Amino acid sequence: MPQTAAPRLTPLEARIELDRLGRAIAAHDRAYYQDDAPTLSDADYDALRRRLRELEEAFPELARPDSPSRRVGAAPGEGFRAVAHLQPMMSLEDVFTDEAVAEFLQRVRRFLGLDETEAVDLVAEPKIDGLSINLLYENGAFVRATTRGDGAEGEDVTANMRTLAELPLRLTGPAPAVMEVRGEVYMRRADFLALNAASEAKGEKTFANPRNAAAGSLRQLDAAVTARRPLSLFCYALGEVSEAVADSHRALLDRLKAWGFPVNPRIGLCRDLDQALAFTRALGEERAELAYDIDGVVYKVNRIDWQTRLGRRDRTPRWAVAHKFPAERAQTVLERIEIQVGRTGALTPVAILRPITVGGVVVGRATLHNEDEILRKDVRAGDTVIIQRAGDVIPQVVAVVAEKRPADSRPFEPPALCPVCGSHAVKPEGEAIRRCSGGLTCRAQAVERLIHFASRNAFDIEGLGARNVEFLFASGRIKSPADIFRLEAAETGTLLPLKTQPGWGAKSVEKLFAAITARRRVPLDRFIYALCIRQVGEATARLLALHYHSLTAWRAAMAAAAAERDAARTADAAAPPGPAWSHLIAIDQVGPSVAGEIADFFAEDHNLAVLDDLAAVVTVADFAAPAAAGSPVAGKTVVFTGSLETLSRDEAKAQAQALGAKVAGSVSGKTDYVVAGADAGSKLSKARDLGLAILSEAEWLALIGR
Ligand code: IVH
Repeated sequence: MPQTAAPRLTPLEARIELDRLGRAIAAHDRAYYQDDAPTLSDADYDALRRRLRELEEAFPELARPDSPSRRVGAAPGEGFRAVAHLQPMMSLEDVFTDEAVAEFLQRVRRFLGLDETEAVDLVAEPKIDGLSINLLYENGAFVRATTRGDGAEGEDVTANMRTLAELPLRLTGPAPAVMEVRGEVYMRRADFLALNAASEAKGEKTFANPRNAAAGSLRQLDAAVTARRPLSLFCYALGEVSEAVADSHRALLDRLKAWGFPVNPRIGLCRDLDQALAFTRALGEERAELAYDIDGVVYKVNRIDWQTRLGRRDRTPRWAVAHKFPAERAQTVLERIEIQVGRTGALTPVAILRPITVGGVVVGRATLHNEDEILRKDVRAGDTVIIQRAGDVIPQVVAVVAEKRPADSRPFEPPALCPVCGSHAVKPEGEAIRRCSGGLTCRAQAVERLIHFASRNAFDIEGLGARNVEFLFASGRIKSPADIFRLEAAETGTLLPLKTQPGWGAKSVEKLFAAITARRRVPLDRFIYALCIRQVGEATARLLALHYHSLTAWRAAMAAAAAERDAARTADAAAPPGPAWSHLIAIDQVGPSVAGEIADFFAEDHNLAVLDDLAAVVTVADFAAPAAAGSPVAGKTVVFTGSLETLSRDEAKAQAQALGAKVAGSVSGKTDYVVAGADAGSKLSKARDLGLAILSEAEWLALIGR
């Protein structure tokens, strides 16, 4: 049929033809890539693609996001664009033993308040050793693919993902308006071996294992390179979805398959713990014969309504767990024990090994945990040791092979001095960790803290990784966090500007300054996390930000809590703690141990100096409760007491926190609501004495609209 020149078509005609071309090319791609049975000659196929390009050039507004023209050859960009996921991408809690799987099931039961007779079906799936991917579909059309990144936002690898023949660009049958599909991009073992063999023949670099090969192939700036790499895909979960699509995980997998997604066929529906463990044992035996690498089994609670109720912790869902295969072991010689100094001054012994391959990865160092552990196992330099490695976990020294010990070996001696700064290294009675007493005068601690400060989940300053921090510290440019923000100003008039230093081009210096400027405003929770207070990780930092709201309020309250604790220490033992301390330890999940670390931090003048210096050069944004919009309890402090009927205590707390409420463990004047179940005791009477709002479980549920 003669073709009308593209510019002479009406938009409607163009859209119809584009649609038809898109479908024809996709069908041919499937036949070519998946079935290995081309349906068109190369020349005819090229003609279809040429016509498609012509029409898209004439009517750019009609080019569909799932157009085959976007499958290959995207222009190499500056890097990948960062895109926020609609729902965070979580990781999984790992467990290594059958007992730990049993505990997982128990936790699920407790949270849901189930009795022993009620079955909790689990779906068991192989845990694919690849990299996770988020695939966004709108009205059944593929729109975007992003890597996991930090869980909140990832890199836009859409152009590269389009080159995977297995990725459906248009779904079969009706699909939700918006749907994020989660899966794993991986490389089959045979493909990996062939790729490495070809690279080796050409004198190019090879990959250490299929997972690295998959990650390296997907993160190519030129999608045409990705297109030549044999990548595969399995889909196994959803993120955001505009309507419910299944009431069980099993049914969800079936729907994914029907839409055209590749779904792993080797899955099991397990009615109880024994069936789940049997699935894993059987899969473990098949492992070596599988076409791809797996590192364990993922168990997922089958009922979606239960998944929803279980919800998630900071980064992991409560409804799933990864049961990792037993660690792989090997023997090698421990050449010496090195002492590393961490950001909090902890001295960590590290085993320096004669390099050896364990589970496909070369291992040259292993952790020895702490000195008590070394003494208990009597590990010595020169010993032959058994090491093990499981997944991403740091390799460990498990035991010494006694028969192979050299005659002249000597027991390990814990260091009396910090190997970096020479300050005394102290190990308080009853504690496992020895610490350098040098504080920020210790170079290792200062540098490690700066690295932590700039890291992704803290201030997130791009370009300020370990190597650059070390250089900037060693050259005297940065001593404390605030110096980072004075770096650019300090440059003017310097005899040796940064951009003249080896390894620093003018462009990278400019980029670094821009990245630093972009972080002059920081949310309170990141600010707190960045301070490196022991036991204050991201989750605790967020809780503190939620409870104290502003930097000024938090700083004042912590200083007061520290002063109260110190006063109580010096006064007689029975002196009651003050209100600031009580408030701090009443925060659910904080407690006296964490509070003690915070108080220790605030009791040191040099820490306060660092904090105030920093606060002078950055703007700390007040913390906004996450679910504040539309939530009637955002920012309110709630205490649960007594036994609840429809919710377990854990579930009630998790639900309240998800709605932006602060959950406290004890009642005080700052409590907004006390939710009292059956047999509520002293907390209820205290609430009455204080005249607080007391709600029944039903009233609470009504308040939050459940
Ligand atoms: S489900 C919220 N299922 O393992 C649940 N993950 O260690 C999201 N993975 O980030 C994950 N196979 O990249 C799930 N069958 C499977 C998986 C799987 C591999 C990866 C995934 C995840 C990581 C967590």
